[in-house]
Amino acid sequence: MAEEKADLPSLGEDDGGVLNLTEVEPSPVEETPLEFKEGYFPSPASRSTSSTLGFGNHGPAYYLHRIQKYSSYAFTVFASFHIANTSIIPLITRSVPESNRYLLLTRPYYQSALTEPLVVALPLLAHVSSGIALRFYRRRQTLKRYGAETHRDRKTIPWPSLSGTSALGYALIPMAGFHFWTTRIFPIYMHGDNSMISLSYISHGFVSHPFVSFAGFTAMVGVGTWHFVWGWAKWLGLSPSQVSEVESKRHLIRKRRWYIINAVSALLTGLWLAGGLGIVGRDGKTGGWIGREFDELYNSMPLIGRWR
Ligand code: HEM
Repeated sequence: MAEEKADLPSLGEDDGGVLNLTEVEPSPVEETPLEFKEGYFPSPASRSTSSTLGFGNHGPAYYLHRIQKYSSYAFTVFASFHIANTSIIPLITRSVPESNRYLLLTRPYYQSALTEPLVVALPLLAHVSSGIALRFYRRRQTLKRYGAETHRDRKTIPWPSLSGTSALGYALIPMAGFHFWTTRIFPIYMHGDNSMISLSYISHGFVSHPFVSFAGFTAMVGVGTWHFVWGWAKWLGLSPSQVSEVESKRHLIRKRRWYIINAVSALLTGLWLAGGLGIVGRDGKTGGWIGREFDELYNSMPLIGRWR
């Protein structure tokens, strides 16, 4: 303290003081100090190496996150068509043959050579692979931050945690993959054509393979819908973990969001299953030569051929 005082120029009684300094009124700092002004220190963004990699001023995580987000928009378009065709229209018409007409009407929009890759295959590939790439990127960042050098260091540092939404997403891959294979790839492989596949093909499967059909569709629709609704909540900034830390009622808001998101998921799952299982699942077998073609397809499926 004494040293500090000694450094200060002492002001005298009169306006000049011993060093002839003028005392001024204290006033707020109006200008940004030089060291905080732009250009004195490089900003964190311009310091990143990403600009040299052609990423503009953003890092790879920013772009991977955006790919993951916007690709799911395209899939949402398809999912909306799909819930309409397989549940809402059957619920309204209460007739599978009648609903098949609508299915065939909208099919060209998402199953053409151009639209199928654009609204289904490529967005899904982009969505899943950007999620995986983001995971590896974050892992590398964490290892760098902790200065992991040996194999043992790496083993002790945990991987980025897997959110419930991501876990549902991974669970959906084999289910949606199997569904796509049975309704799209396998019929083309067997008959060179997909045109006779309709809701009646699914109804037929419910009779010949009731257990696989009921359990499989219930699980896939449940897991898928929960993933979509939690996913959308995240994109809209409405998930429980996105409540601001400074919000005074954050515990209450978090809890409320959790209940609302799960309630919407349950309602949507219920709606999808009401039409899918309740109408399509109970329509029974198709007769005639088309029915025999369906039987042939189901019986030659490697996995479920023997399962009921
Ligand atoms: C309406 C469509 C969809 C939306 C809105 C959506 C949304 C999301 C969101 C927000 C995440 C990130 C979760 C997190 O970081 O906590 C995510 C991850 C994921 N999604 Fe989706 N998704 C959709 C469709 C799908 C579909 C159809 C599949 C697979 C068949 C899928 C597979 C995945 C996987 C595997 C991940 C995990 C990536 C990772 O974090 O490692 N998603 N999705």
